[in-house]
Amino acid sequence: MSLRSLLGRRPAGLGSTTRNSARPAATVGSQGLARSIRLFRLFLLEQTEPAAFYSGLASDSADQVARHIDLPGRTVIDVGGGAGYFTAAFRARGANCYLFEPDESEMRSAGEPAEGAVQADGYWLPVADASADACFSSNVLEHVADPVGLIDEMIRVTRPGGVIYLSYTNWYSPWGGHEMSPWHLLGADYAARRFVRRYGREPKHRVGANLYRVHIGPILRMMRGRRDVQILDARPRYYPKWCKFIVRIPLLRELISWNLLLILRRKT
Ligand SMILES: C[S@@+](CC[C@H](N)C(=O)[O-])C[C@H]1O[C@@H](n2cnc3c(N)ncnc32)[C@H](O)[C@@H]1O
Repeated sequence: MSLRSLLGRRPAGLGSTTRNSARPAATVGSQGLARSIRLFRLFLLEQTEPAAFYSGLASDSADQVARHIDLPGRTVIDVGGGAGYFTAAFRARGANCYLFEPDESEMRSAGEPAEGAVQADGYWLPVADASADACFSSNVLEHVADPVGLIDEMIRVTRPGGVIYLSYTNWYSPWGGHEMSPWHLLGADYAARRFVRRYGREPKHRVGANLYRVHIGPILRMMRGRRDVQILDARPRYYPKWCKFIVRIPLLRELISWNLLLILRRKT
């Protein structure tokens, strides 16, 4: 599918897009402890080698999607895709991936934007209904004021039978306050003041402006109540698959999941 046919409404392109060369069928990684240890090692690189960190995380995320849909030749939409690491991982697996990102500075944060990146808001994707085989967003939901609006839009652009991948850092996660963590657990204002005192500059995130309190229980209840999607997987994103039980335990899930991964199938 070309970008022109994908974009049904309000196109705002930054460049052209090409299909990347496919690598052989997705190597779908493990779901066990070895994967979690690998991810943990990657996290240690976030500050010093961000490209290694984001590429590794993106590769893992594309593998998670590939467990539910064959990626070669499929249309994937990366919502809030930032610098494009996730888009690159999907393209490396042979998917036609399109990146939509509202903030140009995020797009350019690792150099030139991903090829064909489109500056657009995730609430109003300039894409026709049901045009994607998979719609993906990583760590975007906690940055929008209306998470349900973003989820609605992701479902709208996904074809029946297609897959929606959604992951976010919930507020009571040890990392819920992002660079202000874990002090956000004592209150957002306190955490922001403490950050300014300690580092002599404003934090990148402000609660209520570009970081929001998103919890696990309400999102799960909302998803379970929807008739247009089936939940294929709901679990802590970075933990082994057997830790899935955590998301069934109220309160505990808010405190220790760290990041919720939801994989959904759009119903007919
Ligand atoms: C923490 S970054 C995540 C970037 C990338 N997805 C990743 O996981 O590395 C959050 C991203 O969400 C984007 N974002 C914020 N509001 C958005 C919106 N309304 N629609 C789409 N993306 C949005 C930000 O611009 C930013 O690029």
